[in-house]
Amino acid sequence: MILNGQLPASIATAAQALQRGELLGLPTETVYGLAADAGNDAAVAKIFEAKGRPANHPLIVHVASAQGVQRFASHVPDFAQKLMDAFWPGPLTLILPRRPEVAAVAAGGQNSVGLRCPSHPIAHDVLQSAQDLGVFGVAAPSANLFGRVSPTTAAHVASEFGSELLIIDGGACDVGIESTIVDCTRAAPVLLRPGVLTPQQLSEACGVTVITPNAPDADAPRASGTLASHYAPAAKVQLMTAVELQQAIDAQSVAQAGLTLTCTTAVWSRCALHVPSDKRAHFNLQPMPLDAHDCAHQLFAQLRDFDAQGIAHIWVETPPQTPEWDGVRDRLTRAATPTC
Ligand code: TXA
Ligand code: MG
Repeated sequence: MILNGQLPASIATAAQALQRGELLGLPTETVYGLAADAGNDAAVAKIFEAKGRPANHPLIVHVASAQGVQRFASHVPDFAQKLMDAFWPGPLTLILPRRPEVAAVAAGGQNSVGLRCPSHPIAHDVLQSAQDLGVFGVAAPSANLFGRVSPTTAAHVASEFGSELLIIDGGACDVGIESTIVDCTRAAPVLLRPGVLTPQQLSEACGVTVITPNAPDADAPRASGTLASHYAPAAKVQLMTAVELQQAIDAQSVAQAGLTLTCTTAVWSRCALHVPSDKRAHFNLQPMPLDAHDCAHQLFAQLRDFDAQGIAHIWVETPPQTPEWDGVRDRLTRAATPTC
């Protein structure tokens, strides 16, 4: 059931559902979450089951305000506090040492916990109302089946889990890709998952250079969003430069097997491409936003839209190699990595 998040009654219904140990589709500014009371192990188990996610992959615990951190984290280093001060509420998750007595199942058995205070007003209202009912943290991974594209609308969530799930409609997510994750359990902050916040912004805010490992070491906490293949639509995704895209279009011959009059290849590019008239029915050209934030906002909805059209191949222009594109480049690279 999808409830209108603008109505106070919907907020109350959502908070009560969390208190009863039920699952909830929750809008946030990044993506929609599949939420449950982080302190209720049976409720958290329902998340893992519904997503098909391995139980040792930790979930992010969402709190209504920065004060909520003390309940879950045993220690907050100075640089982590500065990151919270600068970016909360907002699209930033901090991994902190976990109080051993709380949220062990939500944390996937790690001795750390991922904490985030979202800025979406509806998420905030639900978290605050739930807190008033004794739910102090809400575990919520992205509301998609394990390994699939994250949802950025209430309808996306319903398409993943069916209409039996209670979903609060908070409109299309502003940011569009998942939060930036920074591990704050070591001597220095380590970027685990890029998002819309750049390493430079993070480093400036906390006064310490944020480490951006190319390959996280074996001891690094597990982040399923960091698996090589993730965020995958049903279609095959390929990343190409503008020149490669044009060459690929030119190389397709109309006579070639598989080139039918139905459109089977989508092209999402920032550059203008030339498609000869006899091939136009085969290619679905969609403009990719020139701005990294606009592109993040559209990314998952665009991939889902191509899937809904039954497209078999998605050719995407490789994003620029600049830091503000890190989050989008990361998600597209994973979407383009075949599962094996
Ligand atoms: O924007 C977001 O972060 C969204 C919204 C709903 O808040 N949530 C989200 O959750 O993306 P999920 O579960 O799809 O991705 C969270 C990532 C996972 O890869 C998980 O492994 C990692 O955070 N994570 C959570 N707790 C962790 C911990 N204690 N140590 C290391 N990684 C952790
Ligand atoms: Mg996810």
